[in-house]
Order: sequence, then C-alpha cells, then structure tokens
Amino acid sequence: MPGKQGGLSGACWPDRMIGDLPNMYVYASNNPSEGTIARRRSAATLISYLTPPVAHAGLYKGLLDLKASIDHWRALAPDAAAERAALVPVIQAQAVAVELATAEPAWPGDGAAQILPLADQVRELEYTLIPHGLHVIGEAPSPAERVDLLLAMAGSAADDAPSREAIEAVVRGADPEQVLADLPQDDPRRQRLRELASADRLLSVDHEIPAILRALDGRFVRPAPGGDVLRTPEVLPTGRNLHGFDPFRIPSAFALADGARQAARLIERHRVDGNGLPESVALVLWGTDNLKTEGGPIGQALALLGAEPVFDGYGRLGGSRLVPLEKLGRPRIDVVITLSGIFRDLLPMQTRLLAEASYLAASADEPLELNFVRKHALEYQRRHGCDLETAALRVFGNADGTYGANVNHLVENGRWDDEDELAETYTRRKSFAYGRAGRPVQQVKLLETMLADVQLAYQNLDSVELGVTDVDTYFDTLGGIGRAIKRARGGGYVPIYIGDQTHGEGTVRTLGEQVALETRTRALNPKWYEGMLEHGYEGVRQIEVHVTNTMGWSATTGQVAPWVYQELTKTFVLDEQMRDRLAKLNPTASAKVAHRLIEAQERNYWSPDAETLEALRRASDELEDRLEGVYVPPVAQGAAA
Ligand code: BEZ
Ligand code: MG
Repeated sequence: MPGKQGGLSGACWPDRMIGDLPNMYVYASNNPSEGTIARRRSAATLISYLTPPVAHAGLYKGLLDLKASIDHWRALAPDAAAERAALVPVIQAQAVAVELATAEPAWPGDGAAQILPLADQVRELEYTLIPHGLHVIGEAPSPAERVDLLLAMAGSAADDAPSREAIEAVVRGADPEQVLADLPQDDPRRQRLRELASADRLLSVDHEIPAILRALDGRFVRPAPGGDVLRTPEVLPTGRNLHGFDPFRIPSAFALADGARQAARLIERHRVDGNGLPESVALVLWGTDNLKTEGGPIGQALALLGAEPVFDGYGRLGGSRLVPLEKLGRPRIDVVITLSGIFRDLLPMQTRLLAEASYLAASADEPLELNFVRKHALEYQRRHGCDLETAALRVFGNADGTYGANVNHLVENGRWDDEDELAETYTRRKSFAYGRAGRPVQQVKLLETMLADVQLAYQNLDSVELGVTDVDTYFDTLGGIGRAIKRARGGGYVPIYIGDQTHGEGTVRTLGEQVALETRTRALNPKWYEGMLEHGYEGVRQIEVHVTNTMGWSATTGQVAPWVYQELTKTFVLDEQMRDRLAKLNPTASAKVAHRLIEAQERNYWSPDAETLEALRRASDELEDRLEGVYVPPVAQGAAA
C-alpha cells in the first residue's frame, strides 16, 4: 500500500487502514522476515507457532532392497570374488529400478567404481531431513516426533551428538545427568544432551493457545528471536512475539567468512562440472535466508565481487570497499543480484551496500581480465553510451510496493504457451535497478544484457521445511531468472545451482539433483506423504503443490528428469487405492494432480508410453467426475447393470 515502509505516519495507508485496531498475527517461528514487515506496516503483535516436525527421510520400497544388496556386497570377505561379481548385476538392476543408474553399459569387475558412489547416494537419501507432517496449533509434538526433531537438532554427524537411545530416554522424562552418567564430566555429549533436554521440555507443552488467549486479553506477549528450530533453539518456546534484527549489523563477521566459503564451494562445483571460472553469476537474495544467517548470502555476493562492508566506530554498517586483487587471489566475478520484495523492504542499507560494491568494482582501475564487473560495465557503456553509474547497476528487483516475479502465478493457472512468456514476465517484474541512491529505476535493456553474460544462476536453501519443491517462490525467483538468462542468451543450457545450507558445512547441488533428492525423500516417500495425509484435505493439497512446483521447475529450467513425473503418476494417480484416498480427502486437489501431470506431458516435460498416458487420462476423467459428483464406482455400475 502507498506510504512509507517503516516509521509510518498517519498519512501512510497501512496506518490509516489499521487505525487503532489491535492486530494479532499468528506467524511461523521460522519466518521473521515477513513477520517483521507485518510489525512495521500494521503494528502486528506476532505470536509464533512451531514449524512441522523434522525427521530423517529413511528408505522405502526399492531403495530398501538396494541398500540391503549394497550392504551384502560390502560385507563379503575379500576372497569372495565370485560372489561379489555375481551381485554386481543384481545391484545394477535394483539401482536402475529406482532411477539411480542406467541399464547400459553393464558394470565391470567387482562394481566398486559404481557401487561405492551409489552407496553414498543412498546414504544421503536415508539421512536427508524432511518435514514430517504438519504442525497443528494447540498440539504439542508427540514423543516420537520430539525424538526425531531432537536427533535432527543434535546433527547426526556432530561429535557431540548424543545417541538415539539417550535422546529417547530424555523424551521419556529421564534426567540427562543420569542418562549419560557413565561418560566423563567434560564429554561434550553431556552438555548437548542437557540442551536437548531443555528444548524437549519446551516442546512437550503447548505454549501457543495460551499465548493467543493472553494476547486477546490485551496482555503482554513475550519476545523471541525468529529462526529455524534446528539452528536456533532459542525460538522455543513458541507462542512469543518474534522480534527483528539490528540492520546495522548485517552482514556479520561470521556471515562474511561463511559467505566466502560458500562462494568458493559454488565455484568449485561449477569447475567440477567441467566449466572455467565464471565471469558472471546470478544470485537470488531473499529476506529470510539473510535474516536467519545474519546475512550469509549477502556475504557470498560480496565475496564473489571481492568487496567487504565497512563498519564505523560503533560497529554500524557504513558502506563498502574493495578487497585488493592480490588479497582476493582471483578475478572479481560479476554478480547480477536479484532481490525479493521482502529483502528490498527489510534491508535497504544492504541493498545500497551491494549497489555500492558493484559500482566500486566497475570503477576500479584494474585489468579487465581480473575484473569482470568492469569488463562488462565498460562494454555496456561502449555499446549504449550511458554513464558508468548506470552501466554498473547490478542489483535488480521489483518496482516499489510489488512482490514476486508472477512466474508462479502463470504456472499455477496454466495460461501460457511458450516458456519465453515466463522469461518475459520475469524480466518485466524484476528489471528495476537499485543504485547507490537506493531508488529503483526500470532498466530492461541493462538487465537483459547483463543476463546474457551470466554463466550460472543460484540461490541458497536455508530451511529444511522449505525445499525448492515445497513452495512456489523458488521457481518463481530462481527458475524465473534461469529462464530469463536462457532467453537473453538465445537458448542453450544454463546451469542452476542450489547452495543447501540446511545442515553441516553446506552442499552445492544442481537444480536437477535437488529436485530428484526432494522427490525421492519427500513426494515419493511414504513417510512424507503418509505424514501429510494424516492431515486429510490439507495433506492432499500439499501433494498437489509438490506436483505443480515440480512442473514449475520444468517450465523454467527444463532440468527435471522425466522419471519424476512417471513415478508421481504411478504413486498418486494410477495406484487405485491411493487415488481413491486422495479423491475422498480432497477431490479438487486430487483432480488437479492428474491435470498437472497431463499438462506436463502436453508440454513435453515427460513422454509416457501410450498405455500409461491412456491410464492417466482415464483416471483424470474419473477424478473430474468425482469432483462434479457424477462418479459411479465400478461396483455400483455392475449392480445397476
Ligand atoms: C523472502 O524472505 O524474501 C521471501 C520469503 C518467502 C517467499 C519469497 C521471498
Ligand atoms: Mg504469503
């Protein structure tokens, strides 16, 4: 709404409209960024609620068989060469069945070259953390859910992680001092278990309904930081008023150091994939990921550019400066930065910081082969005759007051013909350049020119509960820019990477790998979908959302493997029992799943055989009949005849 973003006066529309109406806003504890906007713009008292329980994905169906065979292969004695060789084709066939290998060529010898990396992949699938069901306000997580969540909080690989048995004992109510009494006093697992025990005490009782009632009584709601419960257990207990952050202290020293590490990891992954040092990368910045990491992704952008923030004597952010090339040790990489509307609203100082860093890089008197920002800026100036200030603009976002790229809305309603329309929509929405003055000016030509130079696009993933197929905003922002790059370059493959920082040191995956991992550990995983289906109507909607978001990635990047659609179709549409369950719980969403899979086929994102397609179409007709209330089950048909 028109008016200021912060420090509203009575002339600003949000203030005029909210008037003196109390505004209590029940908000996810992991979403301090959007929550902060609600506080600033409509004086909201936030009352936090817990995110869904988190658990290891575990294995199922063919993956379990595969793991058993791999374990068997590993356990064979060194001299059992014949037995080992005999197992190789079995393991290969099992891997083919779950789309983790191809049938040709046959694996040679003892299979070690293929089986050892495969074992790592299966292990990753087993231990990937997934959201398990949904959180219901007023219901504390069950003991079993708390065990899984505490295990995830402990981090399975950490040195100080207590065992599952110790955590189970604590959840049953045992004193952590007693549980680990056998360990030395200074064993780090003792301290860790004490912390987990206090988290468990806070998790085991509902604090949310009492907080809502307290707020409705006009009483004080205590403050709390926002963040992920895995990384920031201080979000417990929920039922508190999420507070903001100190904008003068972002990015923190930790975020700068971590940003440099993650940027190096990205460049390394790109190199392993057979590429040279990129001259230009596109980075998508959101508010949430930066708030939860004190500005980690901002630190990445600065690291790629070879710049750093300057803080004044009070430790307050004042501006930026370049890191000398000798210290940087590689060329300055050009970074096309796109901001979510939420980032723009929340972090105006950081927006200027990034714009200033780009400008400083573009104006540095350095050799062009060591400074790609300057190289691209001078080239743009030469071709378009503008000033350096304009040619150095690298921070893009929406027009003031608007949010999102609208690519997700196009995909949702299906009203688009060719993928370039998605690129066009993206570019129209996101072509507002934010310069050192902080005021956006639309620069379509500049954005398109800069995108034509981009060699890879990426975004960070910060929360287990928010994967790239869980919400439509990742393909809206990262997928959208991927498609816009492709159009600006006139076609070809654009590498898209995800910097997964949800646990450990972080991992960089290709988009195709990330979608495959999420599909295996979530959508196709009985643990995930049964957890959702316990919530009935909303659970089916969540399954539909995954199918639609998956198609959003195909539409924007073309990097989703066809087996993903094949398996989604088998699991949710062609399986009669499952189809019946979904239709009964939520006829609208179940019909939408089938429609979306057919749409994906029509758009050539997968090509099922004639029989599968026919079965899918029949099932879709049936689901539509159910939706319209004219469905006659086969048994009833028989009886009528
Ligand atoms: C953000 O924090 O910037 C954001 C959150 C949800 C969707 C899109 C962006
Ligand atoms: Mg929303």
